[in-house]
Amino acid sequence: MLTERKKCAPDFAKSSLPVSWVTMKLSLASEHRAISYKVLTELVTPRPIAWVSTLNEDGSVNLAPYSFFNVFGSKPPLLIFGAGDKSPGVPKDTVRNILREKEYVINLVDEANAEAMNLSAASLPYGDSELELNGCSLAESEGIRTPRIAEAPAALECRLHSVQLIEENRIVLGLGDKVWVQDGILDPETHYLNPEAYQVIGRMQGPDGYIHCNDRFQMAWPKV
Ligand SMILES: Cc1cc2nc3c(=O)[nH]c(=O)nc-3n(C[C@H](O)[C@H](O)[C@H](O)COP(=O)(O)O)c2cc1C
Repeated sequence: MLTERKKCAPDFAKSSLPVSWVTMKLSLASEHRAISYKVLTELVTPRPIAWVSTLNEDGSVNLAPYSFFNVFGSKPPLLIFGAGDKSPGVPKDTVRNILREKEYVINLVDEANAEAMNLSAASLPYGDSELELNGCSLAESEGIRTPRIAEAPAALECRLHSVQLIEENRIVLGLGDKVWVQDGILDPETHYLNPEAYQVIGRMQGPDGYIHCNDRFQMAWPKV
C-alpha cells in the first residue's frame, strides 16, 4: 500500500524532527551488494539514455544504449556514461571501440526511436552491427569519423577524455563538440526547446521500464 509522503516543511525552523515514518536501510557496498544494481536502478530514475555509436575495427558501426549517463558540465561540454564489464576484465564493445578510436557519438532517444534503441541492446558478437537489426541509418559527423544515427532527435560528437576503471565499471568521460539537432526542436534564434517536438524517453526500472517525458511542469527559481 502506498503511504502518504510527508512533505518538507517550507518553514524549516518549525519542522519537527525526528520524522516518524518507517525507513528501510540497505548497505549496498557490503551486506546488500548482491541487490545493489536492482536497488539503484529502481530508485535513481528517470535516467536519460545515451545511444552510443562507435567504430568497430573493420570500420562498421556499433550501437548500444547506456542509461548510467548524464551531462556533468558545459564548459567544456562534459558527458559521462558508465559501462559494466562483459565479464571480469573484458569491456563491452562500445568501450573497447572508444579506447581504440578515442571518439564516439552520443545520440539521444525519443519515442520514435524507442524500439530501435532497444533492439540495439542485443549482445552480438564483436563486429556484427546492430544497425542490421534495427534498420537505423547513418549520417556523417563533421569533426570525427564516427557516424551519428540519422533518425536520432539530437546527436553529440564526443572525444574521449579518459576512462576510469572502478572494479567492474568503466566510466567513460567525454568532451562534446558538434551537436546535431533535428529541425523544430530548438528555436533557431533563442535556442529554447520546443517540448512538443522533443518527445524524449527516460529509463526507469530495469530491465524493461521506460517513461514518457511529456508531462512537464514549471517552478519559478527561488528569490531570496
Ligand atoms: C535502455 C538501456 C540502457 C542500458 N544502460 C546500460 C548502462 O548504463 N551500462 C551498461 O553497462 N549496460 C547498459 N545497457 C546494456 C547494454 O546496452 C548492452 O549490454 C549492450 O549489448 C552493450 O553493447 P556493446 O557491447 O556493443 O557496447 C543498457 C541497455 C538498455 C536497453
